[in-house]
Amino acid sequence: MANVTFSSPRMTKDITVYAVAGDTQSLLAVAQAHKIPVDFECQNGECGSCLVQVSVLSGKTPYGVALTEKEKTVLRYAGKITKEQLEAAETSDIPPPWRLACQFIVRNEDILVKF
Ligand code: FES
Repeated sequence: MANVTFSSPRMTKDITVYAVAGDTQSLLAVAQAHKIPVDFECQNGECGSCLVQVSVLSGKTPYGVALTEKEKTVLRYAGKITKEQLEAAETSDIPPPWRLACQFIVRNEDILVKF
């Protein structure tokens, strides 16, 4: 179970929604279910239109994550991941700050999502 807070200049105020962890919902699916206006097109990790900035609240270490090749490619192409962040993701599963909402699986951690 996780609280997901969405924050954007496109919304009048931040909105926090409750997501059930473990049901492998993508962050984009959570946003859509709550009518949060996160952009998207392909929903398949290819176009980069769903780029969001994710930070973990409560000062906990983020869950490790294995980025897919697709996500790595799009983040690199968009200039949203540094060489160091890419290395950290590949060697230590440390998630970078920018993610693709359609590829991000919501876990049991409270997060802030900016877009
Ligand atoms: S919607 Fe295209 S990469 Fe997420």
